[in-house]
Amino acid sequence: MKVNELDIPTSLKQVLLKSGYDILYPPQEDAINAGVLKGKNIVLASPTASGKTLIAELCVIKNILTKGGKALYLTPLRALASEKYEDFRKYSELTKPDGEKVKVAISTGEYDSSDQWLSRYDVIFATNEKADSLLRHRTGWIREISTVVADEFHLLDEADRGPTLEVVLTRLMHINPKIQFLALSATIRNAEEVAEWLKAVPITTEWRPVPLREGVYYNGEIHFKDGSARTIPAVCGDNFLDIAIEIVGSGGQVLIFAETRKSSVQMGKKASIVLKGRISKQEDKGLKLLAKKLLETGEKTRLSEILAEQIQYGAGFHHAGLPTPHRRLVEDAFRKGHIKILSATPTLAAGVNLPARTVVVSSFMRYEPGYGRYPISVLEYKQLCGRAGRPKYDKFGEAVLVAISGDEQDQLMQNYVLAEPENLWSKLAVEKILRPHVLATIATGYAHTENGLYEFFGKTFYAFQYDPKMIQTKIGDILAYLCKEGMTEFEGARIQATDFGRRVSELYIDPVTAVIMRDGLRSRPKEMTDLTFLHLISHTPDISPKLYPRRRESEELEVFASAHSVELMFPIPDLLMEQVEYEEFLAELKSSAVLMDWIDEATEDRILDRYKVEPGDLLRLVEMADWLLYSAHELAGLFGQKEFLPYLTQLRLRVQTGVKKELVPLVRLRGIGRVRARTLYSGGYKTINDLRKASVSELMKVPLIGSTLSKKIKEEVGGTITAEEWKVLKEGKEDSEEQRLLSEY
Ligand SMILES: Nc1ncnc2c1ncn2[C@@H]1O[C@H](COP(=O)(O)OP(=O)(O)OP(=O)(O)O)[C@@H](O)[C@H]1O
Ligand SMILES: [Mg+2]
Repeated sequence: MKVNELDIPTSLKQVLLKSGYDILYPPQEDAINAGVLKGKNIVLASPTASGKTLIAELCVIKNILTKGGKALYLTPLRALASEKYEDFRKYSELTKPDGEKVKVAISTGEYDSSDQWLSRYDVIFATNEKADSLLRHRTGWIREISTVVADEFHLLDEADRGPTLEVVLTRLMHINPKIQFLALSATIRNAEEVAEWLKAVPITTEWRPVPLREGVYYNGEIHFKDGSARTIPAVCGDNFLDIAIEIVGSGGQVLIFAETRKSSVQMGKKASIVLKGRISKQEDKGLKLLAKKLLETGEKTRLSEILAEQIQYGAGFHHAGLPTPHRRLVEDAFRKGHIKILSATPTLAAGVNLPARTVVVSSFMRYEPGYGRYPISVLEYKQLCGRAGRPKYDKFGEAVLVAISGDEQDQLMQNYVLAEPENLWSKLAVEKILRPHVLATIATGYAHTENGLYEFFGKTFYAFQYDPKMIQTKIGDILAYLCKEGMTEFEGARIQATDFGRRVSELYIDPVTAVIMRDGLRSRPKEMTDLTFLHLISHTPDISPKLYPRRRESEELEVFASAHSVELMFPIPDLLMEQVEYEEFLAELKSSAVLMDWIDEATEDRILDRYKVEPGDLLRLVEMADWLLYSAHELAGLFGQKEFLPYLTQLRLRVQTGVKKELVPLVRLRGIGRVRARTLYSGGYKTINDLRKASVSELMKVPLIGSTLSKKIKEEVGGTITAEEWKVLKEGKEDSEEQRLLSEY
């Protein structure tokens, strides 16, 4: 089937042809035959790289051009949302019937906002969580949505995040049954069941544009699914790298999936050693520049130095401990072909297009704190493999598992290569997961009675897959809890949310978190310090990542606890009688201690050394703490506890920026982060008034403050710039130091 033959507006055809889409892939044809362009819902289970996005593009843009309304494109991760957003930007040149251009937006901002600005856009990309929060704000434009794409739909099966997707879809169906739904994934075994739930046509295909050969390596040979085998020359005494070097030798790139962050770093290191001397002179120069760029992006840490060292030789690693700018740089360098061997944890797997000719799955085991080690699911394995052989980059792809014995080789072949992915199962009916959704359903007026709640949750995939009655008991318990804590109330048979309940739902926090905050703010510890509030937020179930201390650290934290017990809002659990609570308490204390160090201006390296918390995790902790402090501020405001407000505002700003109190006025300025604020302060500019009095040329003398920034500071704080200084500024070139740091912001 040709693009030209499709029942879509001519202008859309032109954009597609211009982008190189001429003939449809068979799964795309199947979707069209199933009626996707005639408004039918579809559940498409089609292999990785089989072009599922294009189906969404055709359908979404056709609907906008012919029927109007908005499209919501849901993804599990921000990174994927931005990749897809970029894919859709080409349609911005199209004109809608009302004469306006098609507008595409990405919404990843904070959760306590209805994002009214989005009402001007036609296609909106969002993570499932962001979409959930928008629904809680009863954003007006939600009613205009006519098409919903749920990409990487298999996320529904994930215990902690799947239920959000499930509730978002149920909510949207509830609001407007006419919405057209497209559920896309490579790994939905029970597509028919899912389709029945979504009133959709199930489409399952096995087709892939680029053949993907899956196999298992053992003892110098890869045995493929089709019975063929290939010998891998031993060149470096390491199985994974032998496989990788062979592919790099023939011009390909390799992605090695590692079990842990630590092993991904080690694998990258080994790869860099093996690649030394195998990189051309030309590439060598580029790689050195890239390594330098990495070191100049964000704060220089030991982790970034290790990464830069590897990049120099065309290798690298990628995991969630790296801060986002470094992760993006690595992805980009791999995409452009500079990094030849990339070793990554599975966070890189979801739906992204990468030029890996070969994927090596170095371990089929996964470690999760609290669960221990367990074998990965077939679903996850297939998603990892699917990063290899993407049509934009390669003519074929390979995915290789590595076995350590002949027996294991047979097992891996049976259990992974030849196996089907598992069925998707709803994970909704867990009280902790369900609680915020029950509150949100009442608070946003989607249900007004207990029966209304049952009716709403009766539409979920959970109720469809299991017996709806099973969820009712849980909802009843949750309702009792919400009433007891004053978040909801009955008026006869009618339930409604109180102001407290409504605000908690909007703040996108767990009701239990809100109760802890309310009770904490009412308590009066002997001394109120930064620790009081940092412990308050660390004590909530919403704090993440959870930082369980190592043994030696526990001892230090115990000493810390006894020294600071008068500052805490909650009593310390008893070590013997409340062991589980005590463990939790130590983890809370560790998060508080890390945050204390952070606002005391400890460097990322110092925090890594002291607590073994990597920069990426620190960043996530900081973001979460920021959000929870904001929530505490909002709740204190709601309960009329005005005395806390200035304190919480200041502490929040300090957590956002990682500074001591004295730098607060300075970090409020645009372009001034913790490092520059400190240099200004040390240079004698301690207040806004000091800056107002300083001349531009004086400010330029402060390390890391160049001419552009000096000018910006003056513009922001006020104060005059003399004619002579203007001249200097106009003639003065940007110093490279400033350029370097500007990229930080
Ligand atoms: N009809 C087509 N002609 C040429 N290239 C195409 C066509 N359809 C899709 N592609 C290209 O195929 C690649 C893979 O497509 P896409 O990312 O949509 O895969 P996917 O099915 O969503 O895979 P995954 O399950 O891994 O997310 C993209 O680079 C896309 O541009
Ligand atoms: Mg995809």
